[in-house]
Amino acid sequence: MALLPILRFPDPRLKKIAAPVQKVDDSLRRLAADMAETMYEAPGIGLAATQVDVHKQVVVIDVSEERNALLVLVNPRIESADGAKEGEEGCLSVPGIYDKVERAERVVVTYLDLEGQPQRLEAEGLLAVCIQHELDHLNGKVFVERLSQLKQTRIRNKLAKQARVTA
Ligand code: NI
Repeated sequence: MALLPILRFPDPRLKKIAAPVQKVDDSLRRLAADMAETMYEAPGIGLAATQVDVHKQVVVIDVSEERNALLVLVNPRIESADGAKEGEEGCLSVPGIYDKVERAERVVVTYLDLEGQPQRLEAEGLLAVCIQHELDHLNGKVFVERLSQLKQTRIRNKLAKQARVTA
């Protein structure tokens, strides 16, 4: 396994739209394992392939306290969503920035597992939020792009300043 570099907002590669996975094979399982290792190391609760510059529909998620409930979603689709709730989000591609985003409270998602088998999951709470956040990445969208223009400008300025300090 290997740690993968994570793209930082506003890297234009974060805007790429991920393509569906055609075949769940060993190379895809290796990608998922590397993404999981990268997510746990960061540490984070979710990571989309887009964030490691792989533009395939794959996300890894683990919202458990014990960090032992890895979920890998291949070609995920939100089949239904209901309710609305505002919660604070962060992102490994936008380090140090947290803000409130409105999401559906519950979602039903279908996907392929690492054996290529179709699965269906009903999620609520943090897991539902995380699924929506990661699927946004696959569609080229970072959570800060759901905030007001004013907030986005502030965030871009803050990140540019951070980049100068660490460069
Ligand atoms: Ni994110």
